[in-house]
Amino acid sequence: MNIFIASATLFFIFTYLWLKKRRNYWNIRGFPSAELIFPFGSLKGIGTEKSLCIGLDEFYKKFKGKGPAVGLFYFVKPMLMPIDPKLIKNILITNFDCFQDRLIYYNKEDDPISAHLLALEANKKNVIKFFYNTFKHNLEYRERNNIVRKDFLQILLDLKKSASLTVSEMAAESFIFFLGGFETSSSLSVFAIYELALNVEIQENLRNELKVEIEKNDGKLTYDLLFQLKFLDMVMNETLRKYPPAFIITRNSTKDFKIPETEMVIPANTDININVLSIHRDPEYYPEPEKFDPERFTSENIRNRKPFTFIPFGDGPRKCIGGRFGMLQAKLGIVKLILNFEFLPCGQTTIPMKFSPPALFLSPADRMWLRVRRL
Ligand code: HEM
Repeated sequence: MNIFIASATLFFIFTYLWLKKRRNYWNIRGFPSAELIFPFGSLKGIGTEKSLCIGLDEFYKKFKGKGPAVGLFYFVKPMLMPIDPKLIKNILITNFDCFQDRLIYYNKEDDPISAHLLALEANKKNVIKFFYNTFKHNLEYRERNNIVRKDFLQILLDLKKSASLTVSEMAAESFIFFLGGFETSSSLSVFAIYELALNVEIQENLRNELKVEIEKNDGKLTYDLLFQLKFLDMVMNETLRKYPPAFIITRNSTKDFKIPETEMVIPANTDININVLSIHRDPEYYPEPEKFDPERFTSENIRNRKPFTFIPFGDGPRKCIGGRFGMLQAKLGIVKLILNFEFLPCGQTTIPMKFSPPALFLSPADRMWLRVRRL
């Protein structure tokens, strides 16, 4: 019994001393730091009561101007949130060699498509099983019947021959396209319609642009025209600013990195979380950040803005590879909806918008209720 009490006491003393040291992890390295509250770290309530981007935004506001980045704790694991756009540029582009990796759970042996699951909850594993089986079935069907098409699956099939990709690896690549492509584009479309419903004048201006330009183009909505519609582009960019679908950009440092013009060193193997939403809603870069104002994206305003303050697709060598396609899908949907329907808020519309705490991509917490009238 005495031995048990002595061991427990030693354990608690050791844990207490270790935690005391851990609390100072960032301060001794010269970084401003949020408090480590055992056992949650700095992130109590995040993912349950509030979305990660809102939780991180509170730290962003508190520590802005106090250093290029703020040190946080994910449970007891240190993580860093960059605040200064110059540091963001260093991480994403200039010193990419130190920050090549992302923070994604990956278990190639036991869970082959996990590299791209982005930590889905357990009940979603059935979805993955379904996805994997459907993918495998399609693949085998095409191979068996010598079917050749100009699509993504064909690219993978060709790669399978030249680079000996396994079916699991191919399924994983397809899954990231599926997940990264659909969730992000639908999040963008939903928030665009929401803001257009709340800002009827902007909705009218957009409708006018669409009618005039499609009319000038012999009544045809073509791929080229879709990317020439200036006001539509401004509306979509303003939506991406206010509601970045992939609201956190993550990196992991592969070696120590000294922040230029400071004595601060980001240690190797540090988890980095860039809270895109905070940068996009910082009043220094976007006055009245809550206001939905597509004029922020005129060519002149884009030119005059501080670099690395609009990063909905990330940047650098690991930037989103499907951004243009995502915009194409979302723009096409918005054009069809705005030409055929009028959107207005109703009594059940959530104003201001609340975000779903556990969602991986930015999503409304409640159902999106709007009044819709066919034109
Ligand atoms: C509006 C739509 C979209 C948004 C806002 C978006 C946003 C992002 C962001 C923020 C990243 C991380 C970039 C970084 O770490 O620097 C990313 C990565 C990625 N996205 Fe997208 N995305 C969109 C659509 C798509 C689509 C349609 C696809 C595929 C068809 C796609 C495929 C990918 C892939 C494969 C990566 C990983 C790139 C790499 O690690 O090299 N995305 N996306």
